[in-house]
Amino acid sequence: MNALSLRGVAKTYGDQTHALKGIDLDVQQGDFFALLGPNGAGKSTAIGIITSLVNKTAGSVTVLGHDIDVSREAAKALIGLVPQEFNFNVFEPVEDTLLNVAGYNGIRRSVALKRTEQYLKRLDLWEKRRTPARNLSGGMRRRLMIARALVHEPRLLILDEPTAGVDIEIRRSMWEFLAELNEQQGTTIILTTHYLEEAEELCRNVAIIDHGEIVERGAVAELLSRARVETFVLDVADAARCVDIDAAPFTLRAREDGKLEAAVPQGHTLNGLFAVLQGAGVEVTSMRNKSNRLEEFFLKLVHREDVDAQGQR
Ligand SMILES: Nc1ncnc2c1ncn2[C@@H]1O[C@H](COP(=O)(O)OP(=O)(O)OP(=O)(O)O)[C@@H](O)[C@H]1O
Ligand SMILES: [Mg+2]
Repeated sequence: MNALSLRGVAKTYGDQTHALKGIDLDVQQGDFFALLGPNGAGKSTAIGIITSLVNKTAGSVTVLGHDIDVSREAAKALIGLVPQEFNFNVFEPVEDTLLNVAGYNGIRRSVALKRTEQYLKRLDLWEKRRTPARNLSGGMRRRLMIARALVHEPRLLILDEPTAGVDIEIRRSMWEFLAELNEQQGTTIILTTHYLEEAEELCRNVAIIDHGEIVERGAVAELLSRARVETFVLDVADAARCVDIDAAPFTLRAREDGKLEAAVPQGHTLNGLFAVLQGAGVEVTSMRNKSNRLEEFFLKLVHREDVDAQGQR
């Protein structure tokens, strides 16, 4: 049984905005999964549908075996949600926010008190337990939303941009906490992010969403290794012969159209490639950057230093 399955899930806002164009998605139990995509891709819409906050236009959603159209409450009870926007009562003291949510979920007071203490301590908010949420910093508010999402001990935790606006130190400690929750309690975690780095650090599997469609999916490690290579197409006299050149760290491939395709890993320059080819007596008459949807997409997402590295070429 999957933690989550989406089939043909579509959402049109009004009659014009096709926020999701019929997506399929499977997340296994125990997975740490990233939904990665730029602003407006449809990430929050997908999460809204999964958590029954947004009505879908088409398709089906199953949470740990419960179809949300058939057993909505059962599905909802299994999910903890950390929304993108702050949505707690800002006048309520931190501990009341947790205790009240526990109350809604029918958790006994003694258990609720214990869990409130446990999660507030773990998320470094225990000293702020009497503070109204409006007096918390942005990073503290994020952590409060995580604590609140965990009080009913959900089997599936969904976080929408959990580290947006959070400084690097707190981001790291949140990552550590989430990794621990996933490893030790086996909680399935899905997070949305537009930080490639976050998906890389935390997640095992990823789906990349763009303009309401899933454009790539797979293991993070595998997608990253593809994304961090830039491919060029070169005109040479005899591409087939070039394949025998010992060109490491570059990879050469003869194409059917007689051109040579060269993969240049991140951190290496085209000049390095040309030096290797020149050393082997190969003359390059022209070249172009091979465009690839995944690579182009990642280039938009990757970090400044990656952009700088490319700028140097
Ligand atoms: N309530 C709404 N009414 C109308 N259009 C909406 C609504 N919510 C989202 N949209 C539109 O749907 C599309 C997808 O938005 P969504 O919020 O799902 O993207 P996102 O991937 O979460 O983006 P971000 O990274 O900025 O949070 C956008 O074009 C957005 O303008
Ligand atoms: Mg969003």
